[in-house]
Amino acid sequence: MNESCHKETLPNILSIGAAVPDKVVTNEDLEKTLDTSDEWITSRTGIKHRHVLEEEEIPSSLGVDASREAIEESPVGPEDIDLVVVATNISDMPIPGTSPFIVNELGLSSDVPFFDLKAGCSGFLYAIDVAANMIKGKGYERILIIGLEALSRVVNWEDRSTCVLFGDGAGASVIGARGEGGRILSTSMFGDPSKAKLIRLEGGGTRLPPAEGSEDDERYYVRMEGKGVFKSAVNMMKRSSLNVLEDAGLALSDVDWIVPHQANIRIIKQLAKSLGVEMDRIIVNVEEYANTSTATIPLAFKEGLDEGSIEPGDVVLLTAFGAGAAYGATLLEW
Ligand code: UT7
Repeated sequence: MNESCHKETLPNILSIGAAVPDKVVTNEDLEKTLDTSDEWITSRTGIKHRHVLEEEEIPSSLGVDASREAIEESPVGPEDIDLVVVATNISDMPIPGTSPFIVNELGLSSDVPFFDLKAGCSGFLYAIDVAANMIKGKGYERILIIGLEALSRVVNWEDRSTCVLFGDGAGASVIGARGEGGRILSTSMFGDPSKAKLIRLEGGGTRLPPAEGSEDDERYYVRMEGKGVFKSAVNMMKRSSLNVLEDAGLALSDVDWIVPHQANIRIIKQLAKSLGVEMDRIIVNVEEYANTSTATIPLAFKEGLDEGSIEPGDVVLLTAFGAGAAYGATLLEW
């Protein structure tokens, strides 16, 4: 890439770690308990499997495992991390957030600040943006970001319209002020709060507190307007993608790989069509993991690296949309 494209020295993604539960639930497994079929799920979503936590497993443990790998793969040690941002939509408990438990479990410095960030499925890209700006504006040097989700805990396993779509997982990265890895060329965060209720879990908060009998009330599970989400998703990912490209002074033809939020293969194909990009430049792993919300981008990015698709020097575009409606993109050179 041409050095003159860089407007300033930007932070780097130094590493990526990932973790998914061992337990796999196949479409055929779901056929046994739901009025659904492998054919319906595959043709509408591209999903074949999802990895799901066992009842006794704690969601934050996935974040810990992904973080350990991200730190090991990076040139820094646990003692060097100076901020932790956990992007998640669920929590081990309502108060406090999940971040202090992960910091504690990882044995990071007792001085390290931490916070949770809730931005739907776009959380990991929001966290990259926040970390990059904390490095540029506040002088942090090595920030651990985590995208962690266990939506299996908040879907209704009797509601075929939602439970087939999601899986559990976590991804983590160390974002550094300098070093090897992916140079962040541009980041963006957008939102459309008029679409706040397209994806929602109403019960359990202050408007609709936990109540007796809530297990039979659909408002206490994740629900969505599937068609509305579908229509908005492509426009959101396209807008944020074009925005980061324009900001970096690059064109789609400069991009080697796109890693989109892995919600549904039809949305991904529609995005490719809308951008005029061939599917062979898009990393897809929704078939194996389903929609792991904040974890889809790091899981897919890492797969692209591990299988040798994404190579040093490649320009990679990450883009996501989700509840809120929060959406965004990151452009980087690996
Ligand atoms: O991170 C963002 C998360 N959300 C998304 O990405 C969701 C985006 N939306 C979608 O991907 C699609 O809207 C879905 C895959 C969720 C649904 O596809 P659709 O083509 O919009 O289907 P639909 O909701 O219009 O439902 C069509 C039919 C309905 O039956 P009737 O009313 O036509 O008799 C549903 O009841 O399919 C039925 N249906 C199912 N049938 C078998 C819904 N879920 C299932 C299922 N198995 N799992």
